[in-house]
Amino acid sequence: MRLFKFLIMLHHGGCLAILTERFLMDSLIIRRPDDWHLHLRDGAMMRHVVKYSAEQFGRALIMPNLRPPITRVDQALDYQARILEALPASTSFQPLMSLYLTDTTPVSEVIAAAENPFILGFKLYPSGATTNSEEGVTDIEKIYGLLETMERLDLVLQIHGEVTDPDIDIFDREKVFIERELIPLTERFPALRMVLEHVTTREGVDFVRSSPDTIAATVTAHHLLYNRNHLLAGGVRPHYYCLPVLKRQIHRQALLQAVTSGNPKFFLGTDSAPHPRGSKESACGCAGCFTAPAALAMYAQAFESQGALSKLEDFASSFGADFYRLPRNQALITLQRESWKLPDVLLYDDAEIIPLNAGETIPWKL
Ligand code: DOR
Ligand code: ZN
Repeated sequence: MRLFKFLIMLHHGGCLAILTERFLMDSLIIRRPDDWHLHLRDGAMMRHVVKYSAEQFGRALIMPNLRPPITRVDQALDYQARILEALPASTSFQPLMSLYLTDTTPVSEVIAAAENPFILGFKLYPSGATTNSEEGVTDIEKIYGLLETMERLDLVLQIHGEVTDPDIDIFDREKVFIERELIPLTERFPALRMVLEHVTTREGVDFVRSSPDTIAATVTAHHLLYNRNHLLAGGVRPHYYCLPVLKRQIHRQALLQAVTSGNPKFFLGTDSAPHPRGSKESACGCAGCFTAPAALAMYAQAFESQGALSKLEDFASSFGADFYRLPRNQALITLQRESWKLPDVLLYDDAEIIPLNAGETIPWKL
């Protein structure tokens, strides 16, 4: 039935959105997006997963929590070269790098990083906070000298914002990190640009919103689409287990409100984090949701649930580039309203990866 069919074309800043059929968008053309928080791993797994991100995104900020971690500029550039080698020559995907901060990172590494256009900053993992964070920072005071240099040289600090204190409930670890660590950091280093990676709580949203423009946050698709019931109600679903852990619905609502508000402090970072199936489906499964194969479609689904598809382009394709002071991508991509089923399992070499939403139907397709 095409009774109510009509076409509205919206032009804004190079974006062309087409609205059809009963006011629903069937097709969305946006500037090519970037993923400002991505885990690709290395070796066979990286060679298998990188194509999913390269199909959708123009650039990605690659996380350094390998074993051993990427702590030096030369390691990051070698890793970047391996990622590029894994892609067909025709691909224009650009991996950008973040270095892993440790208690003993030398200031000379910060200076070298600032001189390299492919290194955007340093990742602060509180030691023990998440996957492969053991060599992270044990006490933020130990890296004050590094942060001072980063502030002076205008490098960005990417932060995994959770305390590791075993007395703090896992659902409160982001909130307590903000109170104990982040607020003092912003006071001590007022010009240091920081990204609260994968923000998951209302308190995190409020903190970012009320901070100066030096403070921003990435938001994942899974934290926008799911709450802790998806992880725990009716059975433990290990593929929904990530860190920071999925929170209650009020926090999910705060995230949805933040990303659809048009506030440039909130931008796209998938935190897509592949693990071999056996490491997830285990008595002590590791944290990480592998969302790369359907990442953009998942964001579209979340924005559509708020009637805010028109806000997707800025969040996905503009605000992150602006924060990192990089040019916005020029190419356009098209998302279609077309249901498709994610595979039950992805095979690489002899191993398996289970994507989040495996076997489920996704309403948007690139
Ligand atoms: O869920 C997560 N997985 N959170 C992180 O911070 C790290 C990531 C990983 O590397 O698997
Ligand atoms: Zn991550």
